[in-house]
Amino acid sequence: MAGAVMSESDSVIRRRSSPPAVLRPSPRPRRSGLRSPSRSLKVRRASAYTPSFMAKKLLVTGSSGLIGSEVCVFFSQQGFVVHGMDNNQRAVFFGPQGDTRWNQQRLLRELPGFQHHELDIRDRAGVLALVQEVRPDVLVHTAAQPSHDRAAAIPFDDFDTNAVGTLNLLEAARQACPESPFVHMSTNKVYGDAPNRIALAELATRWDYADPAYAHGIPETFTIDQSKHSLFGASKVAADVMVQEYGRYFNLPTCALRGGCLTGPNHTGVELHGFLSYLVKCNLEGREYRVFGYKGKQVRDNIHSLDVARFMFAFSQAPRAGEVYNLGGGKANSCSIYEAFALTEKFTGKKQVHAYVDQNRVGDHICYYSDLRKMRAHYPSWNISVSLEETIRQIVEAWKQREAAPAG
Ligand SMILES: NC(=O)c1ccc[n+]([C@@H]2O[C@H](COP(=O)([O-])OP(=O)(O)OC[C@H]3O[C@@H](n4cnc5c(N)ncnc54)[C@H](O)[C@@H]3O)[C@@H](O)[C@H]2O)c1
Repeated sequence: MAGAVMSESDSVIRRRSSPPAVLRPSPRPRRSGLRSPSRSLKVRRASAYTPSFMAKKLLVTGSSGLIGSEVCVFFSQQGFVVHGMDNNQRAVFFGPQGDTRWNQQRLLRELPGFQHHELDIRDRAGVLALVQEVRPDVLVHTAAQPSHDRAAAIPFDDFDTNAVGTLNLLEAARQACPESPFVHMSTNKVYGDAPNRIALAELATRWDYADPAYAHGIPETFTIDQSKHSLFGASKVAADVMVQEYGRYFNLPTCALRGGCLTGPNHTGVELHGFLSYLVKCNLEGREYRVFGYKGKQVRDNIHSLDVARFMFAFSQAPRAGEVYNLGGGKANSCSIYEAFALTEKFTGKKQVHAYVDQNRVGDHICYYSDLRKMRAHYPSWNISVSLEETIRQIVEAWKQREAAPAG
């Protein structure tokens, strides 16, 4: 019960320090006449843990997912008390293969003081009540319907989750904790298929940009307009622009991180989402991996979830209002599908079984890697710390361990 989770220290934590220098003073938080969350929220927490008196609080949506869970672990290691919000919707979107309960259980087992809130981000009143109750010092929003192809089959669920769910959280943050950094996980699909208009060179195993203007990758100034996004890309555009607007209009310390391929050992990869994780799983199981179009030379830039969490932490320590960053692995961590096969085979010793489907996914990028220069300029202490090879090695090990672990 959320009410029962509150401790005396909460009232102290609510007295916040001054907003960072880069921000104008924020409006005073308004009280909303919300119902008690204890009626709507099921809360589970790791046992026998007493948070330190001044511990800061983090609220993560999508906490059982790849990025959410990594953020929970990373901020916990920095001394935060972590609240996760997830309702295992990934299993609804993708079936049992997408079930993330194993990760929720891992967090409950391993993170001191971790509190799980079983809540749907579409539940506006529930979200408002929870944010009001927790009053997080940092809010990281990673819950989403994350698949292009799935969105077409469930347009209302997709938009309600990605766009409206994000608005629910932003408004809750504005009312309850307007000075707390709000980090939103956006996507490079906000650029639609416009990157496919860049002149390309066909190399032996991959496509690359032929236009020297993109030698460093796609910058944040790239157009998000007048291209094909998929319904998923469009719902994420709505969220991305809303996150910017809460920064620019209301001066909240928000940022939208336009992710490339976010990956890591804790992804529950399925065919429709989480390409490297799913590719490795197929390799280990000898299952056929289907390559969709572009000769298998389509390029994605891959970033380990740890480096995503590290950037989110850096932003939370020196937030800015309404910022946008392209958060990917950059050119150094990019690979084509066929290059990913070769890297995976190196670690598993097994040949990748695959089939080529001569039809690309709607709106899929032929070549995409992020220009990381803005991130590095704003946060010089941040950089990519996990190479692509090491990331794949970890994914291989993680799938082996998960397959070997007893169910439940
Ligand atoms: N993984 C990638 O390659 C990638 C790339 C670009 C952007 N992103 C974005 O990053 C974010 C995180 O991606 P991920 O790979 O960790 O996804 P994920 O599917 O692993 O995690 C998302 C979590 O959110 C939960 N969730 C979904 N809908 C919910 C709802 N209505 N209420 C509560 N919880 C809900 C799911 O159960 C899941 O545990 C998403 O916004 C996604 O669009 C991901």
